[in-house]
Amino acid sequence: MIAPHGGTLVNRILEGRERDTLAARAESLPAIELDAWGLSDVEMIAIGGFSPLEGFMGRADYERVVGERRLASGLVWTIPVTLAVSKTQAAALQGDVALRANGAVVAILHVSETYTPDKTAEAQQVFGTTDSSHPAVQRLQATGEVSVGGRISVISRPTPATFLPYRLDPKDTRRLFEERGWRRVVAFQTRNPIHRAHEYLQKCALELCDGMLLHPIIGETKGDDVPAAVRMRSYEALLAHYFPKDRVVLAVNPASMRYGGPREAVFHALIRKNYGCTHFIVGRDHAGVGKFYGTYDAQRIFDDFDPAELGITPLRFENAAFCTVCGGMVTAKTCPHPADKHVSLSGTRVRELLQAGTPPPPEVSRPEVAAVLIEAMRKPAQV
Ligand code: ADX
Repeated sequence: MIAPHGGTLVNRILEGRERDTLAARAESLPAIELDAWGLSDVEMIAIGGFSPLEGFMGRADYERVVGERRLASGLVWTIPVTLAVSKTQAAALQGDVALRANGAVVAILHVSETYTPDKTAEAQQVFGTTDSSHPAVQRLQATGEVSVGGRISVISRPTPATFLPYRLDPKDTRRLFEERGWRRVVAFQTRNPIHRAHEYLQKCALELCDGMLLHPIIGETKGDDVPAAVRMRSYEALLAHYFPKDRVVLAVNPASMRYGGPREAVFHALIRKNYGCTHFIVGRDHAGVGKFYGTYDAQRIFDDFDPAELGITPLRFENAAFCTVCGGMVTAKTCPHPADKHVSLSGTRVRELLQAGTPPPPEVSRPEVAAVLIEAMRKPAQV
């Protein structure tokens, strides 16, 4: 079994008497109200998805991550995980603070420091832009100007009643992989309904690996992405009809999407290493948004690191599409035919078809998946 990043799987969820004592104390502590993104970060830290992080980053980790893509310890880490508050709020914080969501205490933050991040440098270096049309830059600009660092201790894990069979923590997937005897496990990150190119990448990888973790992100995504509940139904439809049951584990990833392109690709890979995966699929414009990143930037970044310090191996795939001459899914690496022989529709065109109740061609989307998406568009209230 592959070791978690940094060697130890973090668990910041308190139990028993320690939990009860802190829970009682938390009620009278000053509080920070978490938004959905902050809540998802707390959950990822608590369950070890972000190992070796045990809390929100202090200045030393933050600055080295932004500048050098490493934690203060030297360990590779590409995306800051920080908690922002206003200046006024920061002035009142010291020692232990309660982290609340919808008023209820979720965790205690053991504040070690507060500091003022250079958000312009962060946006430029982490996301490659200071343009506020980038969703993560927008968030950076909208949140408070002071960061609060420190370890967290979770008192009441907020477990939503959704996707229950699929809420597997890193310790659970690790146990599952061991039980199944999987040694090479490939992870697939996604924030979209599944299409034929996704399926092709997954199946190529499954030819080389013992099993796959299909691991869609269900934390915060941008407003025009398809809601997680609909996406989950699309994954279920695909798995039910096109994959051997015993070769895929479908689980939700509670993290929020940063749209950080190359930096997020490495972050995504390290998270999946914590879930026990040995390989990670990186296709075209992984975690990209708009035109902010080059098509294969998210693959090239892996060359900047020693494979041993990453631990998990990227599986790189070029743009995949159905070729009408070859009669199957291809990439430029496997097909000599020109682009006009490839069936490829823009996301906008696919959406138009679905909205009109017309399934996209089967070379683009499996009919069972198209049916799920058409149904969801017909009944937006149930999405
Ligand atoms: S992402 O933001 O999570 O990367 P998406 O869910 O669309 O978006 O992609 C999941 C994975 O499939 C990523 O690794 C992405 O690079 C890859 N991918 C998506 N579409 C294609 C395609 N047509 N050809 C090759 N790779 C693709």
